[in-house]
Amino acid sequence: MSSTVITNIAALVTNDPSLGDNSLLGLVRDAAVVIDGDRVAWTGESSKAPATDNRVDAGGRAVLPGFVDSHSHLLFAGDRTEEFNARMSGRPYSAGGIRTTVAATRAASDAELEAGLTRYLEEALRQGTTTFETKSGYGLTTADESRALRVAARHTDEVTFLGAHIVAPELAEDPAAYVALVTGEMLDACAPHARWIDVFCEKGAFDGDQARAILTAGKARGLHPRIHANQLSYGPGVQLGVELDAASADHCTHLTDADVDALANSRTVATLLPGAEFSTRAEWPDARRLIDAGATVALSTDCNPGSSFTSSVPFCVALAVRDMGMTPDEAVWSATAGGAAALRRDDIGRLSPGAYADLTVLDAPSHVHLAYRPGVPLVSGVWRRGVRKV
Ligand code: NIG
Ligand code: FE
Repeated sequence: MSSTVITNIAALVTNDPSLGDNSLLGLVRDAAVVIDGDRVAWTGESSKAPATDNRVDAGGRAVLPGFVDSHSHLLFAGDRTEEFNARMSGRPYSAGGIRTTVAATRAASDAELEAGLTRYLEEALRQGTTTFETKSGYGLTTADESRALRVAARHTDEVTFLGAHIVAPELAEDPAAYVALVTGEMLDACAPHARWIDVFCEKGAFDGDQARAILTAGKARGLHPRIHANQLSYGPGVQLGVELDAASADHCTHLTDADVDALANSRTVATLLPGAEFSTRAEWPDARRLIDAGATVALSTDCNPGSSFTSSVPFCVALAVRDMGMTPDEAVWSATAGGAAALRRDDIGRLSPGAYADLTVLDAPSHVHLAYRPGVPLVSGVWRRGVRKV
């Protein structure tokens, strides 16, 4: 197995509090990273780096763990440009727009679905994302949901069954029948291809009782729960997620004090998705309130054609710093280690021995530039599993 050292790193985010001078990010200045195969073998000050076969000079740039995008919806066809345009003239966002994408997705071939997925994954990789979770949810029939998951599983281990995105249009008058389908035949067909089960718990989608039935059925089939919660309005989603030990409650835009307390006293991560508030002109989730209460916060793109059509984690980091009360350090932590926590993974989201060698190199001397220089393509190198990709 050949080893490589990346030297001359001005600032290295390790997310290992035992390293460096910054307890949150484990920041090491004038640093080096040694990669052995697909793993990190060593991190520390350049002057102490062990000898290796190959040497790469980072040229005084910053290096951080590859972004962990723990929430996306990339199995879709078509787009919703007209809906976005109408929204920017004042029309509100609602769950109903999902139907447009369901129709386009059902009409697409497997090859078209996979081509779309690959396109957005390549886009994300160029912006520093090395791990992504993605969901079904635009098929809403047993055949369409299971094929979306099979396509997704060819590209990531973090696959989520979201048959409960909205009630399928053909069963709109009989939501109980749709819940029975999702928890029965559809779950049977989908469970073998997924790790997670998710539900959109919201007015116009699924209420608390339906969401509980769906997540409980998924758990019984060996899927771990996560939940779209409290996005468009206050509701039972966050507390249901905590009760069921969901790995993550996602959106968390409308939270009561009891919701914040529940998250703070659980291992359910609050995953904030500022691309959605940007694209729906909604109020921002309050990251500061969650962090001050002691909750774990992740940042993710929610990339989808309706509410958040961005694959850029750097964009989300900049929004979170500008509008959600996060410091640049907190936002970078949430987009890396926070995403890993939301996927219950300890082999990604950090750069210390044993972790996967997933690294993002910035054309900047510090990770702070991700928020300080918004909209600028700063990612100049990406290594995934020890292999240089960008
Ligand atoms: O996470 N909220 C539910 N699902 C997506 C939006 C889906 C769509 O509008 O197509 C979200 O924002
Ligand atoms: Fe989502």
